[in-house]
Amino acid sequence: MLASKRILLIIGGGIAAFKTLDLIRRLRERGAQVTPVLTRAGAEFVTPLSVSALAGRKVFCDLFDLTDEAEMGHIELSRSADLIVVAPGTADLMAKMAVGQADDLASTLLLATDTAVLVAPAMNVRMWQHAATQRNIAMLKADGIGFVGPNGGDMACGEHGPGRMAEVPEVIAAIESALSSGPLQGRRVVVTSGPTHEPIDPVRYIANRSSGAQGTAIARALASLGAEVVFVTGPATVPPPDGVEVVRVETAREMLAAVDAALPAEVVICAAAVADWHVASATDRKMKKTEGGMPALEFAENPDILATVSSRGADRPGLVVGFAAETHDVVGHATAKRARKGCDWILANDVSHATGIMGGTENAVTLITEDGAETWPRMGKADVARQLADRIARVLA
Ligand code: CTP
Repeated sequence: MLASKRILLIIGGGIAAFKTLDLIRRLRERGAQVTPVLTRAGAEFVTPLSVSALAGRKVFCDLFDLTDEAEMGHIELSRSADLIVVAPGTADLMAKMAVGQADDLASTLLLATDTAVLVAPAMNVRMWQHAATQRNIAMLKADGIGFVGPNGGDMACGEHGPGRMAEVPEVIAAIESALSSGPLQGRRVVVTSGPTHEPIDPVRYIANRSSGAQGTAIARALASLGAEVVFVTGPATVPPPDGVEVVRVETAREMLAAVDAALPAEVVICAAAVADWHVASATDRKMKKTEGGMPALEFAENPDILATVSSRGADRPGLVVGFAAETHDVVGHATAKRARKGCDWILANDVSHATGIMGGTENAVTLITEDGAETWPRMGKADVARQLADRIARVLA
């Protein structure tokens, strides 16, 4: 997939720069050509010699190096790649990208390019969470810049939380997805996934057992066919896939707002296990034990995201897909659900305890369309996802 692809790799100044040495090797193993650009800060962490030795070519460092300009001007350098990868993407580099500052070779290339850009951010957790960084990322995403990571975990600075650069295999998967010329290239798809959490008070909530495995697999399969995926996820237990835009929500109402904000799209797939109700009497203060026994909770119905999207007017997505989790008369209930919600396809599955599907790795689904019901053999959730993605690619072709 990466054979003869040209990747311009901008190495920023962070401790995670060491990972780019392995990244270069792995990319070259896959047949990609890597042209490295090392920022001044990056050169404090990895040497130009090791970078160029691994890349098998010259490393570009300085905007005002006349030899570089004579060999290849910086404008040409910025455009002679299939993809620009910024790793590690430091807070400083992203801030420059967001405001269009061009005061060194890396930032000038990023401003001059007309090539797709993928950033693998890495920084201290506080820097990552800072409003300025989050603002810059939102701007860059709106500009069409792709992101992979960061991951959570222990950091070199001794703190814990999001900010670690994505691991090399994750960065490679995101590069493959960014360079994919699959059948869903240029198609925008929104996928909902995971459970929702409906608060009772600031410390308690109502949830369900969904792991988010099936929605995650679907988003991954669609991205691998080249789709631009917005992945709207509740608090799931499986991590989101690479190469997609992740929007994290908690409640059904937040999920609907996130889906609305992600539209227009050509396809919407509602794989989330959305709570049907929220606690109308939820309080801002922790509920205390009372003498009178258990407090009564008042519930109010949540918006139905699938039905709301399906009933949109002129900008209704061309294909709206839902799931139907049933425990008996699966096809009968799911067929009625398809009609009631107004969606195009329903993937019905039997979630009765004996099937082991809810929270498990396999799924047995029946696809219900206007043409009737088609039962698929029991298979892994990743295979269900690939089969669904292939079907979507066929109908959009
Ligand atoms: N769904 C949704 N918003 C909701 C409830 C469900 O988008 N508030 C979507 C789910 O993502 C799924 C489909 O609707 O794609 C069906 O979910 P399911 O739980 O099977 O159906 P319900 O509408 O909850 O119906 P019931 O509980 O009566 O079976």
